[in-house]
Amino acid sequence: MTLLDRFFPDTPDSSAKLWLTSAIVWGVIGMTFGVFMATQFMFPDITRGVPWLSFSRIRPSHVNTVVMSWVSMASIGACFYMLPRLVKTPLFSERLGTMTGWLWNVFAALIPLTLLNGYSEGREWAELIAPMDWFMLILLVLSAVNVFMTVARRTEPQLYVSVWYWMGSFIGMSMVWIVGNRTFVPLDGLNDAITNWFYAHDVLGLWITTMGIGIIYFLLPKLTVGKKGEPGNPIFSHKLSLIGFWGNFAFYTGIGAHHIIQAPVPEWLKAFAIGSSVLMSIPVYSASANFFLSTQGRWDNLAWNLPLRFMTFGWIMYALASFQGSLQAVRSINWYQHFTGIVSAHAHLAMLGGFSMVLFAAIYYTVPRLYKVEWYSKKLVVVHFWTFSVGFIMFFITWTTMGFIQAASWNMGINVQQTVPFLKPFLMVRWMAATVMIFGVYIFAYNAVQTVRSARRQEVSRGSSVAPALSPAAADD
Ligand code: HEM
Repeated sequence: MTLLDRFFPDTPDSSAKLWLTSAIVWGVIGMTFGVFMATQFMFPDITRGVPWLSFSRIRPSHVNTVVMSWVSMASIGACFYMLPRLVKTPLFSERLGTMTGWLWNVFAALIPLTLLNGYSEGREWAELIAPMDWFMLILLVLSAVNVFMTVARRTEPQLYVSVWYWMGSFIGMSMVWIVGNRTFVPLDGLNDAITNWFYAHDVLGLWITTMGIGIIYFLLPKLTVGKKGEPGNPIFSHKLSLIGFWGNFAFYTGIGAHHIIQAPVPEWLKAFAIGSSVLMSIPVYSASANFFLSTQGRWDNLAWNLPLRFMTFGWIMYALASFQGSLQAVRSINWYQHFTGIVSAHAHLAMLGGFSMVLFAAIYYTVPRLYKVEWYSKKLVVVHFWTFSVGFIMFFITWTTMGFIQAASWNMGINVQQTVPFLKPFLMVRWMAATVMIFGVYIFAYNAVQTVRSARRQEVSRGSSVAPALSPAAADD
């Protein structure tokens, strides 16, 4: 085996394997940053005198790692597995996929290295310095080439809705990245704030959301297969899925300025952002209704089909987060809750309770098919589900409650120093909840490592000649 084949293999699914296993590593690191911050809120002095562990450096490291390394790598990995099956054509180039995967890992490692050392543009969610922006743009283009070329060479003439979503995501994200990071045109003052929030919200709207919805549409018919192998449910309505697709791309692009309704940006822009935020209900509820109706008749699968359980939890949280988002954009509500913990809790409702859960589902579904083994321990999957979901609900409720206390105090003219002591018990519960969640994530990573190791052992023992017998749940599509 040449060095090229070893590190950049072009065997089927080698890209998906690399991207998904890397995503697990970055998920562990990124979420550990989050728990570390929750700990700092409890014990603010623990990192005193160590600048690179200060909250202001950990926070952007957390945000950029979870978004660009965990969510993005897991989404692209899942897409590299699912897309060839939908278009009935191998991935355009596994070698390009693995090369891009390793480069993305270098990029992911540079995120904390640069930010913890103080190299930051200081723009919320878009802190990465200019060379990193260029690096990411190249990686996005390389991954997009693989996706679009696979679609161009497809043998299945019909494009399933997931393929629409993934192609739209790559176009959307590249556009958001170029504009939002001011890659070509540096801006000052409010213009910078406007592009900054276009970036921050549309990384969620035109990337994380659209990649995730594509994954849900792929998984729904697979995860609704009956226990005795009865066929899965088809998507309830393709029309609804397309209303969701076009609505998402039409309305998400305009909502960024709802983050700066309290700032002196043009009134028409605020009105446009608020209107777009409310109109987002159309794609969100058409997608959620479609997910709900496509699961009809198979709700009992939740009792035994663990990926379905993760995914259903995820899309329900997505629907709730979007409902909350449309409300939060309305001027009177925005005025009350802006600058409080309600907003950060909302961000986690979508990204942690929502799309991270969908990605866990995708990994639980995909890994056995990629490695041709069952999960090392099904019990650990159950432990992961309960620790993560219960921990998340505690985390969200305490953070939101803190937000209401902050909003009410501010509204009554009580100053911050007087309010903080009242937040302490809630900060403690949020910290405990974060610890419970991260325990679930470590269990998940341990289970994944053991699963891959057992696949390697089986491969060696059978000289990779005879395919192992798998339960229907782990058989390939
Ligand atoms: C165990 C998991 C996690 C914990 C304990 C955690 C905790 C935190 C904490 C304490 C903050 C700082 C909030 C502040 O400044 O007041 C934060 C910010 C943030 N986190 Fe997480 N987080 C976790 C996972 C995630 C994941 C998976 C994502 C996205 C996929 C995410 C996205 C964000 C974002 C976007 C912010 C900035 C929020 C804002 O702008 O208001 N987090 N997180």
